[in-house]
Amino acid sequence: MRSSPTMQRAAVRLTDRPMDTPRPRLTPATGRAVLCRAGFEKEAAGEMSALAGEARCGGYARAVADTGVAAFELYAAEDLGALQAACAWSRLVFARTAWDLHARIDGLPSRDRVGALREAFQSLRIQGSGLRVEHADSADARALSPLARALSLPLQRSFHEAGILRASEARTLHVLLMPDAAALLCSAMPGSASAWPGGIPRLRFPASAPSRSTLKLEEAFLVLLDESERHRWLAPGQRAVDLGAAPGGWTWQFVRRSIRVTAVDNGPMQAALLDSGLVEHRRDDGFRYLPPKPVDWLVCDMVEQPRRIAQLMARWLVGGHCARALFNLKLPMKKRREEVELCLGVLRTAVPGVRLRARQLYHDREEVTVLALPTPR
Ligand SMILES: C[S@@+](CC[C@H](N)C(=O)[O-])C[C@H]1O[C@@H](n2cnc3c(N)ncnc32)[C@H](O)[C@@H]1O
Repeated sequence: MRSSPTMQRAAVRLTDRPMDTPRPRLTPATGRAVLCRAGFEKEAAGEMSALAGEARCGGYARAVADTGVAAFELYAAEDLGALQAACAWSRLVFARTAWDLHARIDGLPSRDRVGALREAFQSLRIQGSGLRVEHADSADARALSPLARALSLPLQRSFHEAGILRASEARTLHVLLMPDAAALLCSAMPGSASAWPGGIPRLRFPASAPSRSTLKLEEAFLVLLDESERHRWLAPGQRAVDLGAAPGGWTWQFVRRSIRVTAVDNGPMQAALLDSGLVEHRRDDGFRYLPPKPVDWLVCDMVEQPRRIAQLMARWLVGGHCARALFNLKLPMKKRREEVELCLGVLRTAVPGVRLRARQLYHDREEVTVLALPTPR
């Protein structure tokens, strides 16, 4: 039977009625949310739980494997200040960025995501001066990239009109799109989270660098040093030792800044680096080599047991052979967070007063990068 025009109109009206589409479900929460490397959610959640526990903040961690997201939700909202301090981004090793978590929204309607998100922020009474629409770095979440881009401007316009975005606010709002029509609603104070969307620096591989590893050290300089430290500590004329240097990606970062490098490795170094006149290549064992006089930088990318590397770094720092050390800890398959804690403990015990900054960088794989700064003598 063919339907009459009246029936067709009625059918269209019915399916258009908002009551026929499931309402989005908003679940308010108070806590912290972080983005991490996919596969490291357990570590990211575990370190937040441990830090929250030390700060006596009751709550629970949420982490689903391979999503690239982890969260810690408080039982009592009054603990938020303590949790923010305990789980500040600077203290988290496995977080590429960290935000305050306000809610999760499920069932975002594909016809009006903007309206649903505007209503959600209005009901939460959260305002900001800027808005970022992001997604995690997992196989499923990366597919949301076009949607995140498409939603960004309409959401900003709508939030401005609704007074959710206004210049007088300090916070940046973060909408983390998730698969299955869900999103986390978050915010961050200036300087308390990564400046890069998703915590991912888009670094270009320099054509003349001998290995992609070079991007690890470039990112480490950007993430673990502030601008003033980069200016002071990466100045021409300084000296560095690079243990496990071949083929020279890390050495390249120093050479391009006119810093002299002793590159220690049995393997071959890139010829152009050796031709620069700034590199001395020593085919020595990185565990035995010591410089004739103290250097500004010790860097180390040797593939070795992490605690052996921590002990080696401690020996250099205690002996005053370097002003600072930057190194990778290659993580074992299991108990990765515990191993990092153990290695940082080795350094804290051996080098009293040492300041440590550790992070699993975007360009790191199964490893974390650590900067160790001894107290000035
Ligand atoms: C991951 S690669 C280093 C890559 C380098 N950072 C780059 O950017 O090109 C590890 C290097 O450590 C070196 N290595 C491992 N054990 C070493 C040791 N005991 N002494 C010196 N080098 C070592 C290896 O020969 C290898 O070249």
